Amino acid sequence: MNKTEQLYEGKAKKVFATEDPNYVIVSYKDDATAFDGTKKGTILGKGAINNRMSNYLMRLLEKNGVPTHFVEELNDRETVVKKVTIVPLEVIIRNISAGSFAKRYGVEEGIVFAAPTIEFSYKNDDLHDPLINSYHALALGLATADEIEQIKQMAFTVNRVLKEYFLTLGVKLVDFKLEFGRLSDGTIVLADEISPDTCRFWDAETNEKLDKDRFRRDLGGVEDAYNEMMRRVFGE
Ligand code: TMP
Ligand code: ASP
Repeated sequence: MNKTEQLYEGKAKKVFATEDPNYVIVSYKDDATAFDGTKKGTILGKGAINNRMSNYLMRLLEKNGVPTHFVEELNDRETVVKKVTIVPLEVIIRNISAGSFAKRYGVEEGIVFAAPTIEFSYKNDDLHDPLINSYHALALGLATADEIEQIKQMAFTVNRVLKEYFLTLGVKLVDFKLEFGRLSDGTIVLADEISPDTCRFWDAETNEKLDKDRFRRDLGGVEDAYNEMMRRVFGE
């Protein structure tokens, strides 16, 4: 399958049309942004790492009954995915307190929750992705009640599968963000990416951060963290 015209350029990926209207090609960049795009930088090798890791995890999730947009990895940075309309919700699951949760509720990072939490943000750059609940999502017409229920179920399934998988690699899955899309027939599938850009990964022994927080918080060792996660997943 070949790229035709560029449809979209986001902060971390480009999306191209193909000859087939049901498929698009995503191309992962090394560009990194944080805080609504106000902090900008480059993480060398990130595009290839996120592409390969996300595809690996999407395949693992498919095997565990979660439908995804994944079709075929073309090369280090490019993947064919099913064309979807993105549901404008960022779906965040948390197992351990960190980031905006710790800040919002005035708690330390690292509290292990008795049960995972779910939250939604409205994907809207002008409004800075405000936190909303499922009633707000329904009121705003972002998704139907049935779609929201499916998304919740799928997100918790993703958490069960990934949390267990990462633990076998000596990594705690602290929290992560998912996005879902609709196929042309309305089927909801997991879309976007699952990578150190969109998850918090802590080493299970030392709690060392192995994700994009090293970039967001200027902790140094950003590339090393991405490479370490790549090594744990692929042994390279
Ligand atoms: P938060 O604690 O900043 O709300 O982030 C929760 C999780 O979501 C964390 O794993 C990072 C991820 N995330 C994204 O993937 N994109 C974003 O724009 C934000 C704010 C967070
Ligand atoms: N990539 C997001 C942004 O630039 C935020 C993040 O991942 O921290 O807004």
